[in-house]
Amino acid sequence: MNILILGSGGREHALAWAVMQNPKCDKLMVAPGNAGIAMIADCAALDIEDGGAVANFAEENSIDFVIVGPEAPLAAGVADRLRDAGLLVFGPSAAAARLEASKSFTKEICDAAGAPTAAYGHFTDAEAARAHVRAHGAPIVVKADGLAAGKGVIIAETVAEAEAAIDDMFGGAFGGAGAEVVIEEFMTGEEASFFVLCDGIDVLPIGTAQDHKRVGEGDTGPNTGGMGAYSPAPVMTEAVVQAAMERIIRPTMAEMARRGTPYQGILFAGLMIEDGQPRLVEYNVRFGDPECQVLMMRLGAQALDLMQACAEGRLAECRVNWGDDHALTVVLAAEGYPGSYRKGSVITGLDTLPEDSFHMMFHAGTTETDGRVTASGGRVLNATARGATLQEARDRAYAMVDKVDWPQGFCRRDIGWRAL
Ligand code: AMP
Ligand code: GLY
Repeated sequence: MNILILGSGGREHALAWAVMQNPKCDKLMVAPGNAGIAMIADCAALDIEDGGAVANFAEENSIDFVIVGPEAPLAAGVADRLRDAGLLVFGPSAAAARLEASKSFTKEICDAAGAPTAAYGHFTDAEAARAHVRAHGAPIVVKADGLAAGKGVIIAETVAEAEAAIDDMFGGAFGGAGAEVVIEEFMTGEEASFFVLCDGIDVLPIGTAQDHKRVGEGDTGPNTGGMGAYSPAPVMTEAVVQAAMERIIRPTMAEMARRGTPYQGILFAGLMIEDGQPRLVEYNVRFGDPECQVLMMRLGAQALDLMQACAEGRLAECRVNWGDDHALTVVLAAEGYPGSYRKGSVITGLDTLPEDSFHMMFHAGTTETDGRVTASGGRVLNATARGATLQEARDRAYAMVDKVDWPQGFCRRDIGWRAL
């Protein structure tokens, strides 16, 4: 089977690594990829949000199966375009990708499905939004409706802060994403990420994880795309998983199918768990990054069989082979991230690292220049390890971090602290 993965981050390196373990994979191409991915697959420059260009590329390269990594091509309808061209695709249609692309759409689906989530109001007018905030008080959560690269959510501690966020959003701080605003009740509890494959009819949970969104140790400082993650998430007990499936995931999938827009792909549910009861924070229509890295480390080669069965509508016949294991990933980021950072610094020591089914240094923002690996993004490397216990996985991951020589990089030293 010839496979094409779309994307260029640590998530896509992890997907590529898992796919390559499977003997079914004859040829792997990744567009656009990065320096780490280039070591295991053929990388190609391609505008992955241009469905026509991707379809032509797939045809020219005899691709049998396309796996879409990030949300932007999905929201842009790339999966639809590829399916129209007769290709097998892992990833939802643009209509189903609205579960991530529009927060008000997700709220409306939750209402229709009876799925527990934060109470909310939806506004297209700043004055009405401000009045809602004054009536409900703080803390309160202000969200730009559209895709804002994870930056469109403000947890306001005071009414003044919430009003300032509303003014920013309607003032265009998030471009088109902020023309509509959702204001939510602030939920307390413990957050976890829950990953479920959906083929339009059947659903199959494939793992849980927790990430560390804040840049600083002890979960302090500004939000990032994620500074580390581990799987499984202890808070996701069997009972919580069951409750999430019955009250949130299945009703949502049934509602999507009822509307004629069945969901096919990975559904990433961000949950808030309080007193053993999960509520939905948000849906994403892709794997999390860096959560995907720990999931792939645990699933290995079967990830390809599962994604293929999902795309072919055969999930009902699938089982996940669970290992009694743990995985943890530490993100190495460029100094300054999530603010401004420099590109081009040289990273050495990568060739001294172990690479096996227990250790992988996944690349995120890296480029190869003159035979050297250089940093080309904010989040740059993901030291990822697996072990019999979370502590063992963590010790292995940090041992990898310590072998990397990159003075312009940093990482958090406390990934996994909540679970350990
Ligand atoms: P989102 O982009 O919707 O995932 O929001 C980013 C982060 O903000 C989430 O992962 C939560 O940590 C937090 N968050 C979002 N909505 C709420 C809410 N209603 N109550 C509490 N925290 C929230
Ligand atoms: N790590 C959170 C996300 O991928 O959205």
